[in-house]
Amino acid sequence: MSLDAERLREDFPILRRTFHGKRFVYLDNAATTQKPSCVIDRLSEFYRLYNSNVHRGAYTLAEEATDLYEKSRANISAFIGGKPEELIFVRGATEAINMVAYSYALARLEKGDTILSTEMEHHSNIVPWQLLQPHGLRLDFVKLSGKGELSLEDFKEKITRRTKLVTFTHASNVLGTINPASEFAKIAHDNGSKVLVDGAQSVPHMPVDVRELGADFYAFSGHKMLGPMGIGGLYAKSDLLEEMAPFQGGGEMIKEVGLDASTWAEPPQKFEAGTPNVAGSVGLSEAVDYLRRLDMSRVREHEKRLSAYALQELESQEGVRVFGPGDPERRGGVISFEVKGVHPHDLATILDREGVAIRSGHHCAQPVADWLGVSATARASFYIYNDHTDIDSLISALGMVRKIFGRRA
Ligand SMILES: Cc1ncc(COP(=O)(O)O)c(C=O)c1O
Repeated sequence: MSLDAERLREDFPILRRTFHGKRFVYLDNAATTQKPSCVIDRLSEFYRLYNSNVHRGAYTLAEEATDLYEKSRANISAFIGGKPEELIFVRGATEAINMVAYSYALARLEKGDTILSTEMEHHSNIVPWQLLQPHGLRLDFVKLSGKGELSLEDFKEKITRRTKLVTFTHASNVLGTINPASEFAKIAHDNGSKVLVDGAQSVPHMPVDVRELGADFYAFSGHKMLGPMGIGGLYAKSDLLEEMAPFQGGGEMIKEVGLDASTWAEPPQKFEAGTPNVAGSVGLSEAVDYLRRLDMSRVREHEKRLSAYALQELESQEGVRVFGPGDPERRGGVISFEVKGVHPHDLATILDREGVAIRSGHHCAQPVADWLGVSATARASFYIYNDHTDIDSLISALGMVRKIFGRRA
């Protein structure tokens, strides 16, 4: 049974808005997704009825808040195939990757060891590693090739005995490419390297099982999967969490504190210094329940169908060039494109006047734009509440762009 996007739209109050007198067509889901009423209500309910700090108070309300927080952890971790104690709450994928950089790579690796990333990455999976270079850690990148896939050949060439960590995105936020994560993880593990997968663009859109994938670390953001902003997760295998150093120091991450030295709490608390985003975790857990009810296989099928239709329609437009793999089986619901003679920012501004919200720019992945040989692209990205009529609106708005830019477009 396919998803009924028109019905699902009703769950999202923001989608009832109109812009410039037009039905709102939201196609910037790779940046952030909209929130269903159940998530908004859950956040509000938390603050109305359950607000208390966690892991501190002995009174009933504090116990209830702690219980909600820990149940949310177990629920969200199970959604990606993990155990409760394997999930650290963070602000999002960026913080999760930084946590691996500082608490694992900087703390555990030795001078001269290499981190192997890729040219396909979001800046959040490049810059944290660059920041480690002054500490003697080396950085290398697997090349992009073909229509925007990672070169397996280059990967096998670049992975060496000193490669201690391989890190790559599960799905590209620019090209839409879905990487063969378990195949990459196997090559890395056979080499004795640990594997970090950036799941910011995959957990929201397809079934993910961290054990099947063979990930040692897996990072994701709640706001890209119907949850609140400011909450996300780092999954990490228990033995790695044991050996990792704390990320930040403060309350709640300690066992005992003396003026000269301190000892640490067990994971996951060891990595959650200070007051956590309790409402965020409860809201994300509600989002996970919503997605589970839809069934992630159906979410993936829905986006595959939409992508196939959008690719076909976009490619048939004169002057439009679509980036990334052509086969919807190998890509997610993210489509970057350009219209000849029109800057992507102008394109996005004209589309906005037609009620269509898309993204323009380098999408925080400048090396990908460099590889494509462009400074920016336009990007449409889909989710559960988008349907074929949204793509028709995008195509008809492109007609308006052609009208404004005349023969140039
Ligand atoms: C592939 C990828 N990784 C990481 C991030 C960073 O996510 P956040 O800004 O939620 O930390 C994004 C955000 O767009 C992304 O697309």
